[in-house]
Amino acid sequence: MPYFPQTYRRTVRSSDRERIREIVASTGFFSPEELNIAIELVDEHLQKGVASGYSFLFAEQSDTVVGYACYGPIPGTAASYDLYWIAVHADFQRQGWGKDILAQTEALIAAQKGQNIYIDTSSRSQYEPTRKFYRDYGYRQCAFFEDFYAPGDSKVVYVKNM
Ligand SMILES: CC(C)(COP(=O)(O)OP(=O)(O)OC[C@H]1O[C@@H](n2cnc3c(N)ncnc32)[C@H](O)[C@@H]1OP(=O)(O)O)[C@@H](O)C(=O)NCCC(=O)NCCS
Repeated sequence: MPYFPQTYRRTVRSSDRERIREIVASTGFFSPEELNIAIELVDEHLQKGVASGYSFLFAEQSDTVVGYACYGPIPGTAASYDLYWIAVHADFQRQGWGKDILAQTEALIAAQKGQNIYIDTSSRSQYEPTRKFYRDYGYRQCAFFEDFYAPGDSKVVYVKNM
C-alpha cells in the first residue's frame, strides 16, 4: 500500500458540494438523479447542521477529498443508524481508503451509542464488489426487497450490530 498521510474532517464546507459531485460521478455507479441526491444531503447539512440528520466524514490526502461517508440516526429508533452513502474517488479505490472511512464512521457512530448500522444497496451485478466490501467488514444481509428500484433491481439491506 502506498504511503498516504490520512486526515479526516467532519465539518462540511460549501466546496464539498462540487468535490462530492466529482467523487460520486467518478465511480460510474450513480445516475444523475442519485448524484443530485448526494448533493442535496450536503445542502441539508449546510443549512441545518447535525439537526439535518446527515453527518459527514471526509477523508483527505494533501487537502484533496478522496472519499467520504454520509450517515445519521434513523428517526424513531433507539440506536439505529443509516450509512446513507460511502464513496471513494475512482483514482483512489483499492488503496484502503474505503476500509478506513468505514471504520472511522463506525467509530463515530459507536461514540454516539449507535448499536446497529444499516446500509441499503442494489442487487444489480455492478454492485457485487460493493456488497463484498460490506460483507468483508462484518455486515450481513438482513432484508431483500424484490424489484424495489426497478424490475430486476432489488434492494438489499445490510446490517452490522456493534
Ligand atoms: C465500495 C468502495 C467505497 C470501497 O472503497 P475502496 O477504497 O476501493 O476500498 P478498499 O481499498 O478499502 O478495499 C477494502 C476491501 O474491500 C474489498 N473490495 C473493495 N473494492 C472491491 C472491488 N472492486 N472488488 C472486490 N473487492 C473489493 C476488498 O476485500 C478490499 O481489500 P483488498 O483491496 O485488500 O482486496 C468504493 O469501491 C466505491 O466508492 N465504490 C462505488 C460506490 C459505491 O458502491 N458505494 C456504496 C453504495 S452507496
